[in-house]
Amino acid sequence: MKKLYIETYGCQMNVADTEVIFSILLKAGYERTLSMDEADVIMANTCSIRDNAEQRIWGRIREFSVQKKRRGEVLVGIVGCMAERLKESLLKSGEVDFVAGPDAYRHLPELIAAVRPDSPQIDVLLSRDETYADINPVRTDTNGVSAFISIMRGCNNVCSYCVVPYTRGVERSRDPKTIVREACDVFSRGYKEVTLLGQNVDSYRYGDVSFADLLAMVADVSPELRVRFATSHPKDISDELIAVMASRENICRHIHLPVQSGSDRMLEKMRRRYTREWYLERVAAIRRAMPDCGLTTDVIAGFCSETEEDHADTLSLMDEVGFDWAFMFAYSERPGTLAARKYPDDVPPEVKTRRLNEIIELQGRKGLESYRHEIGRTHRVLVEGPSKRDPSQLCGRTGSNKMCVFPAGGHKCGDYVDVVVRDCTSATLICELTI
Ligand code: 5AD
Ligand code: SF4
Repeated sequence: MKKLYIETYGCQMNVADTEVIFSILLKAGYERTLSMDEADVIMANTCSIRDNAEQRIWGRIREFSVQKKRRGEVLVGIVGCMAERLKESLLKSGEVDFVAGPDAYRHLPELIAAVRPDSPQIDVLLSRDETYADINPVRTDTNGVSAFISIMRGCNNVCSYCVVPYTRGVERSRDPKTIVREACDVFSRGYKEVTLLGQNVDSYRYGDVSFADLLAMVADVSPELRVRFATSHPKDISDELIAVMASRENICRHIHLPVQSGSDRMLEKMRRRYTREWYLERVAAIRRAMPDCGLTTDVIAGFCSETEEDHADTLSLMDEVGFDWAFMFAYSERPGTLAARKYPDDVPPEVKTRRLNEIIELQGRKGLESYRHEIGRTHRVLVEGPSKRDPSQLCGRTGSNKMCVFPAGGHKCGDYVDVVVRDCTSATLICELTI
C-alpha cells in the first residue's frame, strides 16, 4: 500500500477538507502516515489568505523536494486554496507533481495515478454544487472528543480584500439530513462536540432550512453533544439564530464575529456591508439574550488609505466591545481581489506594523480583563486532554470558548467536569474541581 502524508495549513475548513481527502484516498487503497520520511505521496493542503501564508508553503515545497531528491519515487501534491489561486504556475517550479483545487478532491485517485515524471497533473475546476455530502471524513484529531463538520462551501460575499471567493468558489449549502447523520455518527463513536463550519454560516440555506433551523436540528441530536459553529458574518447574524442559541444548553455560547475595522469608511471600502453602529447593535443583541456569551473577532490593520482616525475608530470599537480574543493581521494585498484592482496598498509597512502592535496591545489588556472577570465563577468544561504545560493536569474549554486547566481528579477525555476559576492568564483560566 502507498503511504500518504498530508500537512494542513490555514483555517478549520482546511482541516475538515483534509479529512475528506483522507477518506477518498484511503478508500482508493492508500494508507495514512504521520511521517513525511516514509511517505510515497506528500501533500500540502494550503492557504492563500495572506502573502506570508503562501511564503511558508513555498518553504515547505523546497523541503518536499529534498525528499524527492533523496528518495526518488516520492510524489508531491499541492491542494487547497493556493492550488486554486496559482494553478499551472505551481507546476512551473518543477517541484510539484500534482495540483488540485478545493472542489477536485473526488478526482485525486485518478489524478495521482496519471502523474508521470514528464507529465504533472492538474485539476482546479470549481463547482457550483460539490459539498462532499456523502463522504464520511476520516477524523484526524487525536483526542476523539471534538469533530469538525463542514456545512457549506465557498463564499458569495466578495469582501474587497479577500481571496476566498476566488479560491473556494460560489457558496453552496449541504443537505441538512447528511449533516445531522454525520453528527449522529460522531456522537455514537464517542465524540462530545461538533463544530459546524462555513465561511459564512449565517447564509446557510437548504430549501426551507436556515442556519438557525440547522443548529437546532444538530443540537437536538443529544443534550450530551455540544455544538459550536464558525464563522458568523455581522451583516447576517439573525435574531432567530440568537434565540436558538439561547434556547438550548448544549449550543456553546460563543460567537466568532469578525469586525475587521471600527471605521465606517473602511468597512465600506472593504465591502463588509454593515456599519460600526450595526455591529455594536448586534453585539448588544447577543449580550441581551446571553450575557455570558463569549465574543471573538478578526481585525485588519492598515487597509488601503486607512488614516490615524480610522485606526483610532478600530481601537475604540475594540475597547467598547471587550473581545475575549482576537485574530489580528496587517493588511496583505491579494492579487486579483477587488481591493488589489481598485485601491493602492498605500499604508507604509512600518505604519501597518505600529497600528497592528497597538491593536495587539489593547486586545491583550481587554482579553485579560475579560478572563479576570471569570475568577470565582463556575463552568462546565469538556475535557479535551492533558494540559500542555503540566501533563498531570487536564484542559478543556468553557462553553464561551475559554481554555481551562484543572487537576485531573480521575477524569478523562470526553468527560464533562464542573470547575471553579481561581486565577488566569490572558489565554487560560486556572481552575479547581468543584466538589
Ligand atoms: N490581509 C490581511 N488579513 C486578511 N484576512 C482576510 N484577507 C486578508 C488580507 N488580504 C483576515 C480577515 C479574515 C481572516 C480569516 O483573515 O480578518 O476574517
Ligand atoms: Fe486560507 Fe481562506 Fe482558504 Fe481557509 S478558506 S485555507 S483561510 S484562504
